[in-house]
Amino acid sequence: RLLVTAAALPLALTAAGCTRSNGAPTAPGTRALPIPPLADSHVDGAGVRHFSLTAQAGHSEIKPGISTPTWGYNGSILGPTLRARRGETVSVTAVNTLPEPTSVHWHGMHVPAACDGGPHQMLAPGATWTPSWRIDQPAATLWYHPHPHGATEKHVYRGLAGLFYLDDELSDGLDLPRRYGLDDIPVIIADRRFTADGQLDETPSSSYGLLGDTLIVNGATPGHHDLPATRARLRLLNGSSSRVLELGFTDERGFALIATDGGLLPAPVPLHRIQLSPGERAEITVDLDPGSTTTLHAFPLTTRTGIDRPQRFGFDDSFDVLTLRATSTATTAPALPATLAAITPFAPELPVTRGFDLKWFMINGAKMDMNRIDLTVPTGATEIWSVRNLEDWPHNFHVHDVQFLLRAIDSAPPPPQLAGWKDTVYLEPARTYELAMRFTGPADPAHPYMYHCHLLRHEDAGMMGQFLILDPGQAPAFAPMAEHPMPMGDM
Ligand code: C2O
Ligand code: CU
Repeated sequence: RLLVTAAALPLALTAAGCTRSNGAPTAPGTRALPIPPLADSHVDGAGVRHFSLTAQAGHSEIKPGISTPTWGYNGSILGPTLRARRGETVSVTAVNTLPEPTSVHWHGMHVPAACDGGPHQMLAPGATWTPSWRIDQPAATLWYHPHPHGATEKHVYRGLAGLFYLDDELSDGLDLPRRYGLDDIPVIIADRRFTADGQLDETPSSSYGLLGDTLIVNGATPGHHDLPATRARLRLLNGSSSRVLELGFTDERGFALIATDGGLLPAPVPLHRIQLSPGERAEITVDLDPGSTTTLHAFPLTTRTGIDRPQRFGFDDSFDVLTLRATSTATTAPALPATLAAITPFAPELPVTRGFDLKWFMINGAKMDMNRIDLTVPTGATEIWSVRNLEDWPHNFHVHDVQFLLRAIDSAPPPPQLAGWKDTVYLEPARTYELAMRFTGPADPAHPYMYHCHLLRHEDAGMMGQFLILDPGQAPAFAPMAEHPMPMGDM
């Protein structure tokens, strides 16, 4: 299915500059924001919801009038939005028609280790993989992407990524925008570079990772979206390889942060800017008068990053993301709910269980080894992981299977935008992040989960480790896999 709508548009209008003062459309005539289709699914007699995803190669019109070779799921770029409810059992038939091994990882999902889609669940060319699991976590905006060790950056950069929405009773009952693609809008943001002939430029710009000079949103250069209501809910994903985004509106209007990686916040948080590092999500709502316009923009980073030479990492860059245009007949949104979803904190007196120091593409002095288990966690354990970035490079930290709560940053409580459920957190250099999480299992002595920096070049280079969840007295039964297909380092 084509995600990118073709339109013959003047090229000059697409490289939009930023109009900061009056909120006027920055590039009238740009294309409509493509909306990834909702995935088809069917529920069988046993109540299992079935999806299928086929990783495939194709061509996409990322820039108007230019055909670019890309990879996607069920289409040429990105993938459909999967949607399921808490309590449902889902099954996904994943097929790889690409010329090399890939995998499909459910980022943010509490999922049995054998279904996680990490680097041990590789799909050879032509192979099919059918993970199935019961959704047992709150409503949230999750995503899926490949995780082949050493080649994740390349696979994601070529276009493989999609959203996975979870709903529950509580989210059903909240008066929030919920019309998919109308006022509840998926916004997958990533950066790319192009060669002169319109191919994705995969030349490594530095050992830091691929940093693009063009922002793409849902697989196309920035466009507009016509909003049938006076409130938009934007489900933002930073799907970049390396770029850290600071998002806000060109007219500096405020917005409400309603959810972070793992679900809804206790109450809407009024903000002007939200920072998202690769892999992080945020749901925001923004209000517009009928007939008015505003533009979501990626600003030079002003929230604290702790980085000395920000230009090196694209922190000074500026891009338009999406122009929202409320129609003149836009329906009036009700008051925003005052409370959203309660969050029960973990016991505050828990001691730190483990420390993780990130430096030189390593965690605690070791590079990822597919054949080494770095740590084991007892089923049901609540742990505090203390994580530090020990160099002047941007890094973040992502843990599979769980959502965590930040207990402290340098012993201080986290700011409200970091106080909800998270699975990925940006690490300012030289600060200590204490993450509290519970590993409910099930135990699996044979299949590890990953933790890693989500800047994809760093992950590929080895800034990753593996853990097993084990029942009391259970021994690891993890078999090193000499024959494992590892497309290492061919980017
Ligand atoms: Cu989004 Cu281990 O990945
Ligand atoms: Cu990193």
